[in-house]
Amino acid sequence: MSRKILGLDIGSHSIKAVLVREAFGKIEPVRFIERPVTNDDVQGLIKSIFQEGHFNPDIVISSVAGNNVSVHYLNIPFSDEAKISRVVPNEVENLIPFPLEDMIIDQVILSKGNGAKPNGGSTVCVALIKKNTLQNHINTLKRASVDTKVIELESLALYHAFMQWYKIEDTVALLDIGAARTNLCIVSKGKPALVRTFNRGGNNVTSAIKELLGISIEEAEGRKLSSALETELNSVSDEGDVISTAIKKGLSPLVAELLQSLHAYEINNNDNISKLYISGGGARLNNLDRFLNAELNMDIETFSIPNDFLQKLQGGEDANYTLATGIGLALCGTRKKHAVGLNFKKGEQISRKETKVNVGKTIYIIAAIISVIILGFADFYSKFQYRQDRYDAVKAEMRKVYMEAFPEAKNIVDEVQQSKSAVEELRKKVEALGGGSKGVITSLDTLNTLSEKVPKDMQVDVDDIMIDKSKIRVQGETDSFESVEKLKKEFETVSFFKKVDVSDAKLSADQKKVKFRIIIDM
Ligand SMILES: Nc1ncnc2c1ncn2[C@@H]1O[C@H](COP(=O)(O)OP(=O)(O)OP(=O)(O)O)[C@@H](O)[C@H]1O
Ligand SMILES: [Mg+2]
Repeated sequence: MSRKILGLDIGSHSIKAVLVREAFGKIEPVRFIERPVTNDDVQGLIKSIFQEGHFNPDIVISSVAGNNVSVHYLNIPFSDEAKISRVVPNEVENLIPFPLEDMIIDQVILSKGNGAKPNGGSTVCVALIKKNTLQNHINTLKRASVDTKVIELESLALYHAFMQWYKIEDTVALLDIGAARTNLCIVSKGKPALVRTFNRGGNNVTSAIKELLGISIEEAEGRKLSSALETELNSVSDEGDVISTAIKKGLSPLVAELLQSLHAYEINNNDNISKLYISGGGARLNNLDRFLNAELNMDIETFSIPNDFLQKLQGGEDANYTLATGIGLALCGTRKKHAVGLNFKKGEQISRKETKVNVGKTIYIIAAIISVIILGFADFYSKFQYRQDRYDAVKAEMRKVYMEAFPEAKNIVDEVQQSKSAVEELRKKVEALGGGSKGVITSLDTLNTLSEKVPKDMQVDVDDIMIDKSKIRVQGETDSFESVEKLKKEFETVSFFKKVDVSDAKLSADQKKVKFRIIIDM
């Protein structure tokens, strides 16, 4: 299966696209196009390069500049990759001036250790880029209809190319000198032991010439391309001498920073950098290798892509300098890699995944809430069912008791209500029969009282006694009107009789008896 892989190097001076084909583990160069950046329409230029090269790659790999990326080297006292990934964000959180959630993180484990002293931890290179910066990069490519699969750190591009063709065990430094910036990558034991980006490059040299000679920037650029650096080994004309001085002036801050970084690395790592490989358009400066050799006191070699590879790319002689970064990027997309690398797109996907995880979490929480509600309902229903069963059992028990207590009952609709009514009726009956609670005057008490109050020597026949809650009616006959009056008076002595009236008293038909009716209020 063959795949077309395109390395896209978006420089400030020019955009380079390198197309390779990977088939059966072999990488074949296809085409290289470099076009100068003349205006701000980067996406337009990318589009036109794609059209011109008839590029239809399966994978596009681009890069972000090192000055947009914060790189940190951490020593972590264990080697488990998953564990390392988990602790890295916490480790770098205090090293960056931005909130971690605004950043995309990716990392490469440079060496693994179990934490045993000394230096037994794992070394991890952690790179962070602002989400906005990465998004701008992705948007630029999107507007050019390019969907990039891998977004690598630009400072590592040359390292990928180096690992493809050099594979040196010695510690070496790779320098990609561009127009606006210069990338340094120190490679030790096949791993990128240090990456740094200096915001200096060919532009500073051009500016220095412009200022020293008092000429336009375009003129200064032209002079730079046609001039050479004067070193002890070569002498130049008087004018050349002036330009050489200007170039040196333009290069000196870069050289100073470079020297400092190389020394710092050697001291900190107790390591020796055996050689510096130079690449990038800025490395085309005549005699730069000699100049750097003298300044850095180090072997300098131009980074070279194998000739046959270069020829197939049809990029011309000078392409060796400028296409190394693009080639390195293309190599990131190949399956068979010798180098470790970063991919901020992966970090971006991870951060998207986190969002998905968050969405997943939200769904999980909603599902949990629904489950709780369902369980609540189930619990309520089971309790309800239990109570219903209990209620039915109690009801059945009550019906049984009711039927036992009132066997004459036929229609049982509401045993509770019917029981209450039956009990009330019984209570009334008991009351009427003189039962009930103490202190309550019953009908029997009243009857007793009435009979007690009838004088023994008086002849009284009682026909009817009616007792209700507040009134008593006594009806009968006696021997005289005096007896009726006497009976009334006797009744009036009863404390709980409020009023006693003779409502009726008359002679009977045979004139021998007096019929009477006494009404008593209670
Ligand atoms: N023959 C030459 N002599 C000296 N300098 C040169 C020569 N050819 C190109 N340059 C310089 O190389 C620089 C461009 O290099 P390169 O194409 O690598 O930069 P770039 O990748 O576009 O920029 P950057 O990576 O800094 O954004 C320019 O400053 C240019 O003047
Ligand atoms: Mg560049």
